[in-house]
Amino acid sequence: MKSLKAFAPATIANFNVGYDILGLSLNNIGDEIEFVPNGTDQNKITQILNGPGLPLEADKNCCSVVVRRMQEALNHFEGVDLKIIKGFNSGSGLGSSSASSAAAAFGYNELIGRPFSNRELVFFAAEGERVACGSAHTDNVAPSILGGIILSIGGSAEDLLELPVPENLYAISLFPKIKIKTADSRKILRDEVALNKVTKQVAYMGAFVQSLHTNDMNLFSRSLQDLIIEPSRSLLIPKFQEMRKAVMGSGGLAFGISGSGPSVFAIAEGEVSSKQVLKALENVYKSEEMSIQTYVNQLAAKSGARLIK
Ligand code: HSE
Repeated sequence: MKSLKAFAPATIANFNVGYDILGLSLNNIGDEIEFVPNGTDQNKITQILNGPGLPLEADKNCCSVVVRRMQEALNHFEGVDLKIIKGFNSGSGLGSSSASSAAAAFGYNELIGRPFSNRELVFFAAEGERVACGSAHTDNVAPSILGGIILSIGGSAEDLLELPVPENLYAISLFPKIKIKTADSRKILRDEVALNKVTKQVAYMGAFVQSLHTNDMNLFSRSLQDLIIEPSRSLLIPKFQEMRKAVMGSGGLAFGISGSGPSVFAIAEGEVSSKQVLKALENVYKSEEMSIQTYVNQLAAKSGARLIK
């Protein structure tokens, strides 16, 4: 077995209409993992760059747990040393643990000759999510491995629906540098939702899928509304409503919380519009002490995990 390096991208999960079941890949920001076979049956985290506080213990780190689960499924234990290079902040809401888990699943699979399909890898990567936040949801790891926009309707490979990715759409994300743990922001959500809200939300999901298939950006914009999760979680994000106003007032198509926050996302059509939306978003925080980080990514279908040099 030769050493190799894998990359898996950051993701925007939930995307307003699909809590825990919908997500999209951001393509050019993400995590890298170097795999070096170590000739034993044990896996070791040798280094984590840019990830202060993340666990080095093999049974606590999401990457080594993902690799172990794959080895257990095969009943074949080819130990590896893992060096993790974080490309963006953990606790940002951009799928940090999932980018690492996805890179771990993808890279190890390549290293051992691809016994699993990419779709099967999603469920190993979800085990990394279980370690990181207590829930094995696939809305981040599925697009991080497969790329594009993925709707997960269940727990098997054929339940991962690859939705069409309209051309010329840009995701603008803004991370206000406060930390919100996914586990905490899941706890504040109510278990029960009023039936009339569910009815509307189901309509929005249907309309969203239709908008992708017909490339109808007006419908896309109208449908991307979150009636269930946003009312609770937006209270944790400073200037949330101001940001929404800024995005929608500067030509943005949609605005919402990225995953469990605190990052927010906006969607714009075309590069020019993406720059206007980015500027409007940044202006909201101009006079604030809080530091922010922004990213702009053009959406693409082929934007999942990959090998790098
Ligand atoms: N669907 C997840 C949530 C994404 O909103 O809690 C974060 O892991």
